[in-house]
Amino acid sequence: MMAKKKVALKKKARPEKAKPEPSEPPKKMTTVFIMGKAHQVPDDATIMGAIEYAGYQIKRGAGCREGFCGACATVYRMPGDYKIYTGLACTTLVQEGMWLSQLPVIPAQKPIYEIEKLEPNVTAFQKLYPEIFRCVACNTCTKACPQSLEVMDYIQAAIRGDIEKVMDLSFDCLCCGLCAIRCPAEIVHYNVGLLAKRLYGRYLSKKSPELEERLREVKAKKFDKEYAKLMKMKKDELEKLYYARDTE
Ligand code: SF4
Ligand code: SF4
Ligand code: FES
Repeated sequence: MMAKKKVALKKKARPEKAKPEPSEPPKKMTTVFIMGKAHQVPDDATIMGAIEYAGYQIKRGAGCREGFCGACATVYRMPGDYKIYTGLACTTLVQEGMWLSQLPVIPAQKPIYEIEKLEPNVTAFQKLYPEIFRCVACNTCTKACPQSLEVMDYIQAAIRGDIEKVMDLSFDCLCCGLCAIRCPAEIVHYNVGLLAKRLYGRYLSKKSPELEERLREVKAKKFDKEYAKLMKMKKDELEKLYYARDTE
């Protein structure tokens, strides 16, 4: 009987073991309550990051994620503290024991108006937002504002009919609505600010002669041929033209 010939198997060269990456230090976690349920989340997360880390998908109540659009209004309470706090979910960091709720939209009256039929003085506010005259000067709106705007002061300016002041003080408003949910007089501050900005733009801002001239030219169809040419161009041609343009 023939002995089975032993076949010397060539050892396959083993792939070199990848060196283990230095492991990231474990994240420090903190407990927050989202829609009433406790979740462990990284303690350096924003509220928005924490909500997503906890497995929720944010479909409403998020836009820019950088503190500009005002879509992510949030209210929260802290353990052992009777106060209610407000903030933007995308820029406010979590804190241990935070109990939070999102407010993706704040219901608010929004009158429809024709700016041409309004006058740039107190009568516009009297007509569209008479509730501003119920302001009790409690300053709660100012405390609620994540933009640190002087919200009460711009409502007081509206009561005086000082359009420019309202426009100026509300300029950085994000329309997040947090002031409106806290106001005992049920004022919708951001809409008052918007009205002032529109009135200012329509009636009070300085006119630019260059802009007036350009508008006249547009109305006289001076650029229509060029527009038509641009509309027919392919994307790469447009890009070439764009990058070759004169810039100041
Ligand atoms: S004024 Fe009101 S709506 Fe505007 S950013 Fe402040 S809290 Fe938000
Ligand atoms: S919260 Fe309302 S009542 Fe209080 S100061 Fe602001 S606008 Fe006035
Ligand atoms: S997502 Fe835009 S301000 Fe928070």
